[in-house]
Amino acid sequence: MEELKKMVAREALKFVEDGMVVGLGTGSTTAHFIHLLGKLVMEEELEVYGVPTSHQAKFLAIESGIPIVSLDEVDAIDIAVDGTDEVDPQLNLIKGRGAALTMEKIIDYRAGTFIVLADESKLVDYLGQKMPVPIEVIPAAWRAIAEEIEVFNASAELRLGSKKDGPVITDNGNFILDAKFERIEDPLDMEIELNNIPGVVENGIFSDIADIVLVATKEGVKKLER
Ligand code: A5P
Repeated sequence: MEELKKMVAREALKFVEDGMVVGLGTGSTTAHFIHLLGKLVMEEELEVYGVPTSHQAKFLAIESGIPIVSLDEVDAIDIAVDGTDEVDPQLNLIKGRGAALTMEKIIDYRAGTFIVLADESKLVDYLGQKMPVPIEVIPAAWRAIAEEIEVFNASAELRLGSKKDGPVITDNGNFILDAKFERIEDPLDMEIELNNIPGVVENGIFSDIADIVLVATKEGVKKLER
């Protein structure tokens, strides 16, 4: 699996050009991309600036030698490279297993080209087939929001920490609800509906923003485009 992740990360490097501002995604697949990009910066003198989507991406970028800038320091982001949890046939996504969905969506959305790194296990017939939708919420509102979500025939669970007692706290100081849907028929509609609930900061449905999905397979990398 790590080899497949590395292979797809390597393929994404082909989209990076000298002088670009690059959105740096979060997760285990993007971690390979950040390492490989760092090698180009350190060894080939590639000049890029990274805009990290999380503390994880920031730490990895610093460790890899990629100069980082914050979103408010750049006029534009040329490309963003990020992982995913699910991809449907229209290239709508579910993201946020790593709880970084809010900054990921802000940066991926701002990018001129948003490139998604996946493997075949992430391809689904419809969103919600395998994964819950992570929703970042204001802590004081979590229980009220969990009830509101039930209106959509979904069940919402507060995400708990594994090396911390109690809830996972996001990079922005909020909680995460994982909402399991039977099936998400209309991703754009559901993305808007969820964000309309007061107290929701952002949700992990990324409809209509992926430009290219690179899929690692045993036969090589497949490129899906919208
Ligand atoms: C982070 O919050 C997530 O959106 C990740 O980008 C997503 O879960 C993919 O992670 P992996 O590359 O580790 O599967």
